[in-house]
Amino acid sequence: MLTVKDVYKSFGDVHVLKGVNLHIEAGYVYTLKGNSGSGKTTLFNIISGFLPPTKGFVEFKKRKITKFAPYQINQLGMGRTFQDLRLVMQMTVYGSVLLALKKKLFAYPTKEQIRRVDDILGKVSLLDNKNVLASKLSYGQQKLLAIACCIVNDADLLLFDEPITSVDKDTALKITNLVKQLKQEGKTILQIEHNSNYVNATSDKIFRLEKGIVI
Ligand SMILES: Nc1ncnc2c1ncn2[C@@H]1O[C@H](COP(=O)(O)OP(=O)(O)OP(=O)(O)O)[C@@H](O)[C@H]1O
Ligand SMILES: [Mg+2]
Repeated sequence: MLTVKDVYKSFGDVHVLKGVNLHIEAGYVYTLKGNSGSGKTTLFNIISGFLPPTKGFVEFKKRKITKFAPYQINQLGMGRTFQDLRLVMQMTVYGSVLLALKKKLFAYPTKEQIRRVDDILGKVSLLDNKNVLASKLSYGQQKLLAIACCIVNDADLLLFDEPITSVDKDTALKITNLVKQLKQEGKTILQIEHNSNYVNATSDKIFRLEKGIVI
């Protein structure tokens, strides 16, 4: 489903990725581990089109996507969350997920779209907070909202950047169960996470990014 081939990335004199190779098959949960600053988020940014590689390429569903814009990669069926959330804090929970679904601010939602948003909010346990501003949620709930925005488009490959880092126990359990459920539904997940209990409970395969390569 996804192949990263000989990817290099440098920021000036800082050589972060030095020939990363990765292969992801559909239907499994993969976890990328690695020390802080090893380049995990940089690799996610390259895979999802937010950064160009210095060298190498990324293939998704048999298409080279290295020069595609993030929205084009999203249309092909790849969703992602951000380590730093990137929610619109002054939007409601409902508005945030609806916008992620229809991508246009001023278009009226269809009945199907409204139903879809409710379904997803139920799935991430945020239905009761539907009309709450993102800024008023707990950090754990904000993580759940970011995941809701990522999955609402029914993408088949989901990249989660540290989904449970710094969240409370209850939310961590919810996210663990959600990842298992998404796998049951046939989704493919590539996640970055450190927590061993979580990683062991959810992952089929674990990669490690070290010294610029994936081992
Ligand atoms: N856009 C950028 N411009 C310059 N340097 C960058 C940029 N993005 C990342 N870096 C640098 O690349 C290195 C890897 O950063 P990255 O965020 O990918 O690490 P990480 O493995 O995700 O770390 P963490 O576990 O702390 O999230 C760091 O030295 C960082 O400062
Ligand atoms: Mg990171």
